[in-house]
Amino acid sequence: MIDSVDQGFDLGCLPTHRTKVCESIPITTRKQRLLTLKKANYNLFQIASRDVTVDLLTDSGTAAMSAAQWGALIQGDEAYAGSRSFEQFQNTVQTLTGFEHVIPTHQGRAAERLLCSLLLKPGQYVLANHHFDTTRANVEMTGAIAMDLPCSEYQKDDPSAPFKGNIDLELLEQFLSQHAPSNIGFVLLTITDNSAGGQPVSLQNALEVSRLAKEHGVPLYLDAARFAENAWFSKKYDPSLARRSLTEIALSFFSLADGCLMSAKKNGLANIGGFLAIRDQEITDKLRELCTLWEGFPTYGGLAGRDLAAIAVGLEECIEEGILRGRIAQVHRLGNALVSHGFPVQTPFGGHAVFIDAARALPHLEPKDFPGHALACAFYLEGGIRTVEVGSLMLGRGIPDTPDFVPAEREWLRLAVPARVYGNDWCDYTALVGRNLLQNRSQIPPYRLIRSPERLRHFTATLAPEFRNVLPDVNECRVKGTPFVR
Ligand code: F0G
Repeated sequence: MIDSVDQGFDLGCLPTHRTKVCESIPITTRKQRLLTLKKANYNLFQIASRDVTVDLLTDSGTAAMSAAQWGALIQGDEAYAGSRSFEQFQNTVQTLTGFEHVIPTHQGRAAERLLCSLLLKPGQYVLANHHFDTTRANVEMTGAIAMDLPCSEYQKDDPSAPFKGNIDLELLEQFLSQHAPSNIGFVLLTITDNSAGGQPVSLQNALEVSRLAKEHGVPLYLDAARFAENAWFSKKYDPSLARRSLTEIALSFFSLADGCLMSAKKNGLANIGGFLAIRDQEITDKLRELCTLWEGFPTYGGLAGRDLAAIAVGLEECIEEGILRGRIAQVHRLGNALVSHGFPVQTPFGGHAVFIDAARALPHLEPKDFPGHALACAFYLEGGIRTVEVGSLMLGRGIPDTPDFVPAEREWLRLAVPARVYGNDWCDYTALVGRNLLQNRSQIPPYRLIRSPERLRHFTATLAPEFRNVLPDVNECRVKGTPFVR
C-alpha cells in the first residue's frame, strides 16, 4: 500500500479510476471543423459527436458507468409490474433521500413535467435560486411564472463566497409575505445550482428556506440532480459539517423538503433516467396516475428494468467520498489551468463544470453579440472542443436589436466535465486551446441569430458569425499555435 504522505503525493489529485472499456477519441482537422460548423449553422447542438474531440457540452448522461453498473444491467428484471430492479431502485432512493414514495421517470424533465402539471395553476409563482432551462419551460407550460431569486453573492460574483447557489432569503421572505400561499405553486432549491455555475447551496440556507416555506404554507421541493456534489461542498466549506458523512449531509437536505425531482443522468452516473421522491401519499397517488399516462406504469416510469438497476448502483457510488474527490479534483484542475492562462472564471469552482465569464473574456462583444456562444464556436473551431453557452442565447429573451431583447443576467461559457470519462491530459489540452484563443480574442467575431424558436432556442437556433467589425472571412479567423490544428 502506498502511503500518500510518505511519497509526497496528494492522491486526491490523481484519477480514481482505471480504464476497463475504451472508446477512440475523434481527431479532426481545422478545415473539417470549419465545414462542420457551417453545416451546423453555427449551433454546436447540431454537430455529430464523431466530429468532436473533447465533448464538454454536458455532464448529463455522459458519465462512464462502472463495472458494477454494467453488471447490474445484465441482471435487470424487465417485468412490466413490480420488477426486482424497481425494488432495488426504490430501496436505494428511499435510503438516500428519506422520502417514502419513489416514482421513476425517463429523465429529469419528465419528473418536472409530472410535478408541474399536478401542482401548478396559471398565474402561480414558482420561486427558486435558479430554474434549470427545462424546469423553467415546464413551469411556463402550465401558465405559471418561474422566478429566480439568486443570492447577492452570486450576482456580485464574490470569489470569497463558497455558497453562491443560495437563494436570496430576504427576497424570498418579501415575496412570500406579499403573496397568498394559493398564488405560490412551490419553492424549488436546485442543488447544486447549475445555472449559477454548479454552485452549492448551504445547509443553513436550505434550513431557512424550509422554515420560510413552512411558515407561509408553501411546499418546498429540491431539484437534486447534483445533490452529491452539493453534499461534498457542504462538508468542505461548512465547518459544522466537517465530521459528518456525505450521506448524512445529503439526508439533512432532503429532510427539509416535501420531495425532490432528480435527473439520474448527472450524479446518478447513469446514461438515462430520473425520478420523483415524495413524502405525501395523496400527491404521490396523483403523480402515479400522470406517470402511467405519460411515462409508463409507475414501477418502470419510461425506463427499462436494467436502467433502474444501473441507476440504483450509480446512486450508491456517486456519494462515495473517493469518487467525488476524484471528480471534483478534475473539474478544479481544468478551472485552475484556465485561470493560469488568464481566463476570468467563476470561483470557487462548482462541482460539474467550469464557467468562463465570456463577457469579460471577450470585452469587444456585447450581450447582443452572444459572447458565450462566440467563445463556444471558437473552442470548437480551434480545438474540436464542444462546450455550451449559458448566457443570452440560452437564457435571454427576444431578438437582439429589437425592443423585446432582454439579455441574460450573465454571459457564461460552461465547460461541463463528464464523470470518469476523459483523462487529465484532455483538461490540460482544453486549457491550452483556451490560452491561444485568449491571446487572439479580438479575432473572435460576434454572432447573429438567423432563425430562432420561441422556447429553448439554443438547441435549434441557426446563427452566423458577423465579420463587419472583425475580419472579412472566417478562414482568416484562425488562431495561430493551437495544438492539433493541421
Ligand atoms: N435540473 C437540472 C439542475 C439540470 O441540470 C437538468 C439537466 C435537469 C434538471 C433536467 O434533467 O436532462 O434529465 O431532463 N441538465 C443538463 C445539463 C441537460 O446539461 O446541465 P434531464
